[in-house]
Amino acid sequence: MELTYDGLRTARTFFTFKNASTYDQIVRFTTFGQDYHWKTQIIRILSKQQMSVLDLACGTGILSFMLIDKRPSIRVIGLDLICEYLQVARSKKSDSLLVNGTAEILPFIDESFDCVISSYLPKYVNIDILIDECCRVLKHGGSVIFHDFTYPRNLIVQHLWKAYFVILRFMAKFVKSWNIVFFQLDKIIIANNWLEDILQSLEKKGFMDISYKHYTLGTAAIISARKP
Ligand SMILES: C[S@@+](CC[C@H](N)C(=O)[O-])C[C@H]1O[C@@H](n2cnc3c(N)ncnc32)[C@H](O)[C@@H]1O
Repeated sequence: MELTYDGLRTARTFFTFKNASTYDQIVRFTTFGQDYHWKTQIIRILSKQQMSVLDLACGTGILSFMLIDKRPSIRVIGLDLICEYLQVARSKKSDSLLVNGTAEILPFIDESFDCVISSYLPKYVNIDILIDECCRVLKHGGSVIFHDFTYPRNLIVQHLWKAYFVILRFMAKFVKSWNIVFFQLDKIIIANNWLEDILQSLEKKGFMDISYKHYTLGTAAIISARKP
């Protein structure tokens, strides 16, 4: 049976004041450090000419600050739904440009960014609305780069992946603030079709140079494209 869920409500249940301060350790530990590898790939895809970047669902700012560290001349604005996550980001870098809001209604004028990047957002949003908004705030020739988890296609990897979530559920006993995430994330990843949905939506909007790649045995993917 296909699971349907409300992305915004799920995000508000998953990411709260209770777990904002432990997010960085949890993402590093639960992805066996692959999170850093995926974010490095996002930064590698970003072209050298792109000087103003919007990091959607920036959370505690991991990707934004990695980008600023590697490319200090770039202007990065981070946007996130949850204030407590932004507070953690601000505590790391007091002069960071951070906005509280939803990725589906962006508080920016048309054509204001060279690039929109995002890590782990697609499964929580309506993809057509997201792409419409990204298209509106992007300059002509600007690009989008989205990354999220994917359900691996290889059967052996699927079994390992499912076994890993059994272990995570056991660990949830010891990290209560992440309990609901460890119990529900696998179902959401399986039910979600974000990569195909973004592909279709980008094509509909006339985006060019659409390309995507799977990483880490098909457990994550990154898709990029350029606005005409
Ligand atoms: C798993 S965290 C990822 C944070 C950050 N991108 C990273 O890679 O470390 C998911 C983030 O998405 C944010 N989020 C979910 N839905 C959102 C929406 N509609 N608009 C903005 N942020 C959203 C959550 O608040 C949370 O901070």
